[in-house]
Amino acid sequence: MNINLLKHYILHYFSAKRKGHGVHSPFAYRLCEEVFYNQDSFYHFKALNKIRELLLKNETALEIEDLGAGSKTFKNKTRKIKDIASRGISTAPQSEILYKLSNFLKCEKVIELGTSLGLNTLYLGLVDKRTKVFSIEGNPQLLKFASNLAQQLKVNNIQFLSGNFDQVFPSLLESLDSVDLLYVDGNHTYEATLRYFEMALTKKNQKSVFVFDDIYWSKEMTRAWTEIKNNPQVSLSIDTFHFGMIFFREEIKEKRDLKFLL
Ligand SMILES: C[S@@+](CC[C@H](N)C(=O)[O-])C[C@H]1O[C@@H](n2cnc3c(N)ncnc32)[C@H](O)[C@@H]1O
Repeated sequence: MNINLLKHYILHYFSAKRKGHGVHSPFAYRLCEEVFYNQDSFYHFKALNKIRELLLKNETALEIEDLGAGSKTFKNKTRKIKDIASRGISTAPQSEILYKLSNFLKCEKVIELGTSLGLNTLYLGLVDKRTKVFSIEGNPQLLKFASNLAQQLKVNNIQFLSGNFDQVFPSLLESLDSVDLLYVDGNHTYEATLRYFEMALTKKNQKSVFVFDDIYWSKEMTRAWTEIKNNPQVSLSIDTFHFGMIFFREEIKEKRDLKFLL
């Protein structure tokens, strides 16, 4: 664990709410009930856990050229799928939060920045086959792996887009009227994170949620998260330590910044 993570984890542990106690906003309370502390095992979770298990045993090596902020976990250019699955992607509880969030908000248009092996992409795609999921990845080998996986599983509502976020994301946004869920999980630098946030703001709607991964991964990510949640257009921010989420709902008249210990 790096120093920034450790310091913020201790702060989070002592300041975060548990189980929605003392949450006054009805919307935030429902999020606690339906998403953060919802213990239901949804229909797809068993199959997705099986896929994770298979990835964790997969010895195939891929050539990975680091994009964005690079990796603190991996030093080599050649990485085995099993190593990416164990150290380079979301854990099952984190993926399940994304699934429950999209399900609760009934998201119709979802964008993921950073496909990697495509496991979170599958969670997002399986919530509802009518949901359109767009996932952008700069590494062609990873993108091919992820799209083959989705094809094998017959998950047909995901569009995998190859290229750098900086080029592909603005043109994708241009083609959409709005975005319901944006999940940013790549290029963890201060400038890039704020840039993607500003771009996405132009396509937010009443029910949109933007989710930023790894907000305590580095000092610059924490700085970016602080600026994002303080933006006047944000009506509610939720910090689960791993994820930072922002909402723009007009029904929330008094801005709130909440932290939950999951
Ligand atoms: C942490 S991984 C994503 C993990 C995935 N969301 C999951 O949990 O299943 C981040 C991915 O973003 C990609 N990436 C980072 N910076 C990028 C950029 N500027 N353009 C395109 N892809 C980028 C990396 O290649 C990497 O595969």
